[in-house]
Amino acid sequence: MRAEPKLGETPPALLAEYAEAARAALDPGIWDFICGGAGDERAVARNTAAFEAVRLAPRVLTGVGAADLSVRLFGQSWGMPVAVAPMAHHTMVHPEGEVATVRAAGRFGVPTVVSTFAGRTFEELVAAATSPLWLQLYCFRDRGLTRELVERATAAGFAGLVLTVDVPQLGRRLRDVRNAFRLPDDVRPVNLPVSEAYSSTDVHARSDLDPALDWSVVDWLRSICPLPVLLKGILTPADAARAVEAEADGIIVSNHGGRQLDAAPATLDALPTVAEAVDGRCPVLLDGGVRAGRDIAAAVAHGADAVLVGRPVLYGLAAAGEEGAAGVLGILSEELTDVLLQTGRRSPADLDASLLFGAAAPA
Ligand code: FNR
Repeated sequence: MRAEPKLGETPPALLAEYAEAARAALDPGIWDFICGGAGDERAVARNTAAFEAVRLAPRVLTGVGAADLSVRLFGQSWGMPVAVAPMAHHTMVHPEGEVATVRAAGRFGVPTVVSTFAGRTFEELVAAATSPLWLQLYCFRDRGLTRELVERATAAGFAGLVLTVDVPQLGRRLRDVRNAFRLPDDVRPVNLPVSEAYSSTDVHARSDLDPALDWSVVDWLRSICPLPVLLKGILTPADAARAVEAEADGIIVSNHGGRQLDAAPATLDALPTVAEAVDGRCPVLLDGGVRAGRDIAAAVAHGADAVLVGRPVLYGLAAAGEEGAAGVLGILSEELTDVLLQTGRRSPADLDASLLFGAAAPA
C-alpha cells in the first residue's frame, strides 16, 4: 500500500514538499481520500485561495528582537496557536498512526484532536502524549455508544470534546465515489465496536451517525461529561451566536476542509463575522487551508484565537512518520516566528487587524 517515502537529501522547507512526498508514497486511492473534497472541490480551493490573497504589513525598527509563540487557551498552555485537526484513520498512512502524530504534537506543545475514527486506542494515545488530547466526537444514533466513547476518553485523561456539527450526512466526495474507495483491511477505527465487514467511513457514517442532530445535543453532552465542549463546523454568525447561547466552550470555524458543502465559503472569509458575533465570549478557532506560518498569523488577525491544521500533518506522517509530522509543525513554528519578527510583533496576542496591509497602522 505504501512505497518507501522519498524525502530527498535535505528536509522539506515548505509544507507543499511534504504533500509531494506523501503523494509519491501513498496508494493513489488513499491520496485522493485525503486530499479530496466534496463536489467539484470549490470549497477546498477557496480555503487556500483566501489565505493566498492576504497581504501582511511589514513593520520596521520595532526593537522586538525575539518572539514567543505560546498562547493560553482553555486553561492550557499551547506552544503555538495551532492544534492538529481531527482526521480519521492515521494508520492508513503510517503503521504507528495517531501515536506518531501525538508524539510529534507533544514536541511542540500543541494539542491533538483525536478523531472518533482513530486507528489507535485512546489509552495508547494518552500514554504517548505530552500535550493535551481532545476527542473529536461524532454523535451516533446509538447514544449509549456515544456516551461510552465520551466516558472512555474522559477516564483516559482527554482534556476536552470537539463535537463535529457539519455532518448531517457525509459530503459527496467524488474522488472516493469514482475510485470505489475502500479502506485497506488492516485499517480500523479501533475505538468503535465495528464488524469485520467494516470497509469505509462512508458506509459507517451513513448507517450509524445521527443525521438529525439539533442544539439539544450540546446540553446532553454537558449532562454526561464535565469536559469543555467545542463545536466544529460553524460558518455563520447566526450559528455562532446560537452556539454561545448554548454555552459552547469554543467554536471552530470550519468547512471540514471542503469535504462537506462545496458551495461553502472559505473559512477565512467566514471568520470575521463569526468572531464579531461571538464577541470574545468564547475562543474562536479556525481550520481549512492553513499551509504556512503567515496563514496562522492571518487567521489570528481576522479574529481567531488559534488554528487547526489538517492534511499537512497527515502528509508529514505519510512521508516520514513522527519525524514528518514534527517536520510540518516545525516549519509552521519557524514561519510564524519569522512573520512575527518581520511585522514587529512579540507574540500572537499582538496580532490584530492592523497586521493586514492597508489597515490602519497601530500607534
Ligand atoms: C478530516 N476531517 C475530519 N473532521 C472531523 O471532525 N472528524 C474526522 O474524522 C475527520 N476526518 C478527516 C479525514 C481526512 C483525511 C481529512 C483531510 C479531514 C476534517 C478536518 O478535521 C479539518 O476540518 C480539515 O482537514 C481542515 O482543513 P485542512 O487543514 O485539511 O485544509
